[in-house]
Amino acid sequence: MRRGSVVQLVALGAVFGAAAAAVALLITWLPRSASEQADRIDFVFWFVTAICIAIFALVAAVIVYAVFNFRAGPDDDSDGPPVHGHTGLEIVWTAVPAVLVTAISIVSAVVLARNEHVPRAAAGSPNPLRPLVVDVTAQQFAWLFKYPGYGNATSSTLRLPVHTTVQLRLSALDVLHSFWVPEFGQKQDAVPGLVTKLVITPKRVGTFPVICTELCGLGHAVMRSEAEVMTTSKFAAWVKSQNEGGASGGGGGPSAKSLFVSNGCNGCHTFKSAGAKADIGPDLDKLAEEAQRAGKPLEEFIRESIVNPNAYVEPGYPKGLMPGTFAGLPQAQLDALVSFLAAGSKQ
Ligand code: CUA
Repeated sequence: MRRGSVVQLVALGAVFGAAAAAVALLITWLPRSASEQADRIDFVFWFVTAICIAIFALVAAVIVYAVFNFRAGPDDDSDGPPVHGHTGLEIVWTAVPAVLVTAISIVSAVVLARNEHVPRAAAGSPNPLRPLVVDVTAQQFAWLFKYPGYGNATSSTLRLPVHTTVQLRLSALDVLHSFWVPEFGQKQDAVPGLVTKLVITPKRVGTFPVICTELCGLGHAVMRSEAEVMTTSKFAAWVKSQNEGGASGGGGGPSAKSLFVSNGCNGCHTFKSAGAKADIGPDLDKLAEEAQRAGKPLEEFIRESIVNPNAYVEPGYPKGLMPGTFAGLPQAQLDALVSFLAAGSKQ
């Protein structure tokens, strides 16, 4: 090969490599990582991207070089010279991809294994919260987070202490949902009848969106919550306030307000007494007007709307949006919810 050809090929490769690298680096492709797992996934992403840029530069340089240097003249109808195989070349273009693909598999396998690893807290560990387990329940169209290690405190936002490994145990009450926090870098399905797991070690304080990423019904697009990563002391204070305020010392079962949250009502409705601000379903602060439109006494209307949601559908909302699964609520819980809603909407 002539020296001039080598220089041309290298120059073309440098140009194409630089162009591809600019596209990779100048555009923000990924959200800023907020967990150790996302950092590892980002590493795999950039490892593979670097290999892709090198191969793209090589292939593009050879193609463009060939197009200009081996171009046939306008009147040249002759066949090209016969070319036989080139054993050395074939060995190289088999061996190089084999090495690259093997390297990618090894890096990916190591990252997957480390991302699923849950460290056990050693006795007398400086961080007694580790490992933290959170039960995540998905249903149309809300998320509920429960902390079995902390008196079953429940929350409609995912609260996590920073730098603490947490294991999410996901389940679904009705259909398939999927848990996704882009900044944490992972997705995991929530499947009825199964418990799936996801390990997260948040590395910076902040609030990030929790998104349902499995088409699960009419309210899918708005099945969102928030993940709030807080300092360890703030988290401990929150847990303490939950355990003091929520269950008022045994007996009586869960409060109506916590029933409202644990059944996911706050995922779709606005209701001041429960601090709910969603707008997928009708505003429950206006239940009195809605009962009037439906032509029914308030409490009867509320009860019917929970167990048989399609009997009356508020104008402006599609039929079938409210899940019918609440017909199975225990009588005592249903009674508690009805009086909670009736009392709150009269305020
Ligand atoms: Cu739940 Cu989409």
